[in-house]
Amino acid sequence: MKMLYACLVLAAAFAHAGSLLEEAPARTGSFSNPLEGQERALRAGAKLFARECASCHGNNAAGGVGTAPPLRHAGVYKAAPGKLFWVLRNGSLRHGMPSFAHLPEPQRWQIITWLTTAP
Ligand code: HEC
Repeated sequence: MKMLYACLVLAAAFAHAGSLLEEAPARTGSFSNPLEGQERALRAGAKLFARECASCHGNNAAGGVGTAPPLRHAGVYKAAPGKLFWVLRNGSLRHGMPSFAHLPEPQRWQIITWLTTAP
């Protein structure tokens, strides 16, 4: 009985296993954003977000549509840029987050510049 309970708890934990960002490999945490702090990158990133991401994550990332989580909170703007880059590169097919590997790298870094600038 104890064993069954343990399995159920584990299964539940797995089904809700953390956020996608937490799945990024530790080594990605040390990559820095080459465009960090650049005003032009920030403005371009805001536009790209509206075009590529807002349909799921909501306008200005304030509220997620469907299962897409809101992104305007400390968990994201304090996240390591390399981990965000990993999320954009890989997405999560299983959970409905597309890969954005087709966007040129500078555009992905522009979006990350916007995401990591506190509102
Ligand atoms: C088709 C809908 C869709 C689009 C478009 C989309 N996302 Fe997502 N995104 C999701 C979903 C659903 C999740 C949750 C995935 C999960 O739970 O594993 C997610 C998760 C994320 C996460 C992880 C959040 C966390 O707390 O771990 C980030 C960061 C993210 N998206 C950024 C973006 C960015 C930036 C764009 C645009 C370039 C984008 N997303 C476009 C649906 C989308």
